[in-house]
Parts: sequence; structure tokens; C-alpha cells
Amino acid sequence: MYEWIKALHIIAIIAWMAGMLYLPRLFVYHCEAETGSKQSETFKVMERRLLKAIVNPAMIVTWLAGLYLAWAGHWFSAGWLHGKLFLVLALSGVHGFFSRYVKDFAADRNQRSHKFYRIINEVPTVLMVGIVILVVIKPF
Ligand code: HEM
Repeated sequence: MYEWIKALHIIAIIAWMAGMLYLPRLFVYHCEAETGSKQSETFKVMERRLLKAIVNPAMIVTWLAGLYLAWAGHWFSAGWLHGKLFLVLALSGVHGFFSRYVKDFAADRNQRSHKFYRIINEVPTVLMVGIVILVVIKPF
């Protein structure tokens, strides 16, 4: 059972990360599209669908499967899991910001530049590298 839930955890992570890496890319392109243009309206649909159909459900499955693994594997007292949970909470916070940006674009009230989205684009990658090192190497 544990190994099956771990497989589900990894599948959900792949879907979550795919969306977390692609959404800010869409925001960069969306910044360059004129408000009210056909292109801008297409980006709105892409962003909403990606968030609602993939990123949100994938985050929920990742969390549920991860918490099951922590409970079933008696990992809650492990130092690496504390570090990992800290980084995963940060990643979930970034997810929250992304969903706010989707709403802002949908209402045509984005104020942020494409430079901002280019920079924020790197944050999920950095967090993911830390998370994977902590869970695989378990340095403490
Ligand atoms: C949402 C909260 C999360 C919790 C509570 C959690 C917890 C866990 C636990 C307890 C394991 C089993 C470790 C083992 O059997 O050695 C695990 C496996 C794993 N987790 Fe998570 N995790 C979470 C999110 C994530 C995220 C966001 C990522 C990547 C970005 C990730 C990457 C992995 C990987 C790659 C494994 C497999 C490690 C291995 O088999 O060596 N986890 N997770």
C-alpha cells in the first residue's frame, strides 16, 4: 500500500509542478498581449483551465498522499520532513499567489510587469530542488 501511495504522490507532484512551472510562463506572455485582444482572452481561458483542472487538484492529491506517507511511515519526528514541510508550505503559498494572479488577469487588472513574472518563474524550481534533495538524501 505504502509504495502505491508513493507512486500516486509522485504522479500528483509531476502534474502540480508542470502547472507551477507553466503558469508564470503564461503570465509573461499574457503581459505582452493587449488588454481586450483575442490573444489576451485566450490566455485567460488557458490560465483558468490549467489552474482549476490540473494545478489545484494535483496540489490536493500531493498533500493527501504525502501526509498519508508521513503518517504510515512514522516520519513525523524526522528532521528532513520538517525541512520539507517548510519548503512545501512555501510552494503552496506561491500557488496561492499564482491563483490570485490568474484572477487579476481574468479581471483585466494585472499591474505587474513581465519582468516580475520572469523572476517569480524561478521560485517553484528552487523550492522543488530543495524538497527533492531533502526527501531523497534525508540529510538530517
Ligand atoms: C504536500 C506535502 C508533502 C508531504 C507531507 C510529503 C511527504 C512525503 C513522505 C513522507 C514521503 C515518503 C518518504 C520515504 O518513503 O522515504 C515522500 C516521498 C516523496 N516526496 Fe513528498 N511530501 C509532500 C510534498 C512533496 C512535494 C511538493 C515534492 C516535490 C516537489 C515531493 C517529492 C517527493 C519525492 C520525490 C518522494 C519519493 C522519495 C523516495 O522514494 O526516495 N513531496 N513525501
